[in-house]
Amino acid sequence: MAPVTVSVHDLDLPEIELIDLDRDEALAVFAAARDRHWLARTPLGYAVSRYDDVMAILRERRFHSAIAMITEMAGLPATGNGFMERRNRSILSLEGDEHTRLRRLVSGAFTPKSADKLRPFMREVIGGLVDAVADTGHCDLVEDVCEPYPIPIVCELLGAPKEDWKLFSNWATDIFRIFNNDLANEMPLIDAASNELDAYVAAMIEERRSSPADDLLSQLIAVEEEGDRLSTEDLIGLAEAVLMAGTDTTRNQLACSVAVFTQHPDQWALLAERPELASRAVEESMRYLGAVRGTMRIAAEDIEYRDVLFPKGTLVATSLAGANYDDEAWREPAAFDITQERDNAQMTFGSGTHFCLGASLARAELQEALPLLAQRMPNLAVDGAIEWKPPTVGIWGPARLPLRFGASN
Ligand code: HEM
Repeated sequence: MAPVTVSVHDLDLPEIELIDLDRDEALAVFAAARDRHWLARTPLGYAVSRYDDVMAILRERRFHSAIAMITEMAGLPATGNGFMERRNRSILSLEGDEHTRLRRLVSGAFTPKSADKLRPFMREVIGGLVDAVADTGHCDLVEDVCEPYPIPIVCELLGAPKEDWKLFSNWATDIFRIFNNDLANEMPLIDAASNELDAYVAAMIEERRSSPADDLLSQLIAVEEEGDRLSTEDLIGLAEAVLMAGTDTTRNQLACSVAVFTQHPDQWALLAERPELASRAVEESMRYLGAVRGTMRIAAEDIEYRDVLFPKGTLVATSLAGANYDDEAWREPAAFDITQERDNAQMTFGSGTHFCLGASLARAELQEALPLLAQRMPNLAVDGAIEWKPPTVGIWGPARLPLRFGASN
């Protein structure tokens, strides 16, 4: 007999409320809910946290990114404002053919090989930041190393000169206000920063069109596939997406990864001794403590999955952290071991059509940073206590990570 499809709204599901829970509490809530059902009900909709379900929902193209709903959730009109128009044409929220087109045109510029070209520059930046604190034997890793690390790399990638790093940093700070839960009041600052960034990138594009350089913008301008090219508007949108999606993620992930190592000093010493473990160190620390703990999808039409009907408009939260800890997908998920090859790919870069475009770049940044930090900061210990960002923050990690280190700690 064919299985009967039941509407998700009619299922008897565990109810979970994650607001105000820290990461360990949230993982425990997910694990308990999973014992009852693969789905859970939340105040906004539903949630999945099993590895296979998270991957399946993210790979189902009829589940669309819910990013475009940020303004609606904040009580702002969904159309008719510059903010929304900008976000709606961003690669992060485009869907269907438009999204496929953009990904196809830009993917050649975001390969591991392209990221590798920036490694010497990454080493220079991270080396300079570590030099400034290494002899003192202590630092706040967030303020001294993680915060300043990604902006120069995004600027180098785009082709913006050093004297403009500060401009980019300020624009990023203001545009990130969209996550501050006070969108109505923050909007003028967000809009002003976005407009300035747009104008800056538009001028760069014009310059690169006449004199190409060895940078991402020139590469993207030159892309042509089957007679299709990126418009100036596409290019501006991409530059903003790279700044938005590539800055706070990387700095928070670096802080999360180092925070994990402070609890595993033997692994830190091992990484210092064997820098060739950098790639495993990045994947395992991103699995263990990811800076992006989840993302949201909305059913663009009625969708059936595992004999459950998700009516059009249903919101589904996919827990990347839950998937990274699912004991059906991982042997001993609570063990942290950078020497172990894992059977699955960690999920902190997402999956499916919106899988992180900058994953190779982020991996390279973290792979360059972690072994260097391990070598220059031996005998690492937390100096006091780690201060974590509130659990409601979308891109999450330590707000302060006070460390002491040195030969005779
Ligand atoms: C460790 C650092 C990073 C993490 C944890 C991360 C995580 C993610 C995740 C989870 C998504 C998918 C979101 C969703 O499905 O709703 C995503 C998308 C994206 N990321 Fe990253 N990211 C990181 C670094 C970067 C960097 C360095 C860049 C810069 C190039 C970047 C650019 C993007 C873009 C453009 C998208 C949208 C892709 C699309 O929608 O097609 N990310 N990232």
